Amino acid sequence: MRLSRRRLLQASGAVAATGLVPSRFAIGQSAKVRVGLLLPYSGTYAALGHNITDSMKLAFAAAGNKLGGREIELVQVDSEADPAKAPANTNKLIVGEKVDFITGPVHSGVAMAMVKIAREEGTIAIVSNAGANAVTREMCGPNVFRTSFSNWQVCQPMGAEMARRNLKRVVSVTWNYAAGKEMIGAFREGFEKAGGTVVKEILVPFPNVEFQANLTEVAALKPDAVYAFFAGAGAVKFVKDYADSGLKARIPLYGAGFLTDGTLRAQGAAAEGVLTTLHYADSLDTPQNRSFREAFKKATTRDADVYAVQGYDTAQLLIQAMDKVKGDTKAGKALIAAMEAVQFDSPRGRWTFSKSHNPVQDIYLREVRNGDNAVIGIAQKAVADPAKGCGIA
Ligand code: PHB
Repeated sequence: MRLSRRRLLQASGAVAATGLVPSRFAIGQSAKVRVGLLLPYSGTYAALGHNITDSMKLAFAAAGNKLGGREIELVQVDSEADPAKAPANTNKLIVGEKVDFITGPVHSGVAMAMVKIAREEGTIAIVSNAGANAVTREMCGPNVFRTSFSNWQVCQPMGAEMARRNLKRVVSVTWNYAAGKEMIGAFREGFEKAGGTVVKEILVPFPNVEFQANLTEVAALKPDAVYAFFAGAGAVKFVKDYADSGLKARIPLYGAGFLTDGTLRAQGAAAEGVLTTLHYADSLDTPQNRSFREAFKKATTRDADVYAVQGYDTAQLLIQAMDKVKGDTKAGKALIAAMEAVQFDSPRGRWTFSKSHNPVQDIYLREVRNGDNAVIGIAQKAVADPAKGCGIA
């Protein structure tokens, strides 16, 4: 890991702090731990940012609002899910606010900028949603962690599943940016390996939600099925438009689980029967998931979803690791080792990190039934991202 100027100054300060001068740790111990959140609080991904934030707050409150004995201070910045603003927004938190940890974002393009700067500055980054494959591949590093998923991990298992269902010709539809393209690419990899063909990849500019022309094109192509990735407000609109256009009755809709996660109330009957894969499902029947969903509902009056789970797990990671190093945010390798070793029962299932700091997790096959993402199987067990190009894996 490259040492930034700020880190070098901190390190030399620590060497000078001997004798009667209190050590950096004694000084630091009384200060608050500053956790930066770079998340969308406006735009098509706003609901995702709010659920991640609120469940972090829920988990921190349950831990007495302390990390390793030190009070927590959250510093929130609205990313607007805008990659063009991501370098400035990241610098605001890392350089301006001097946060101890930076978490977020939702958007893969924002993540690329956030992780690049966190690597340069030596700040610990915990990606709490964005699936950009590079984060735990080429851009991986000792101080880069992800508590969500890689775009490949979530979507690749659906390819084989759709081929098993005897679907041969598929059209994909997604937003034209890194996450959409990587998710479709992963699905396509699995589908074509199993003998299927993606006859057309339709790309819609992000964050447009005018789908009429795209749906007309799908109707003309007459595929056996459609595979889609949209999320947040865009997913609500796409699933409703797909049903309203009459396509749903003729061509089954499949997708990345984000298409139907945190969206079902707004989608209503339009989402019934949609099949997706994801590392979580509302209906997972475990004590951890039941109690988490109950606590989240009580705190927010909203239903938990995959984003809430990722926020909760990000907080668990911080709570456990900071306890182990007794609140010493400057513990360096010991703090990173503590984060790598964290294990617990998450609402999504057993939590463990791969060597590249991405979760190893089951990918569930879900079908929307009676307004719920019902688990109808495990599409693939214990999926680890291949971590190609990651030097630490
Ligand atoms: C992403 O940009 O990586 C992304 C955004 C929203 C999702 C999933 C992935 O629901």
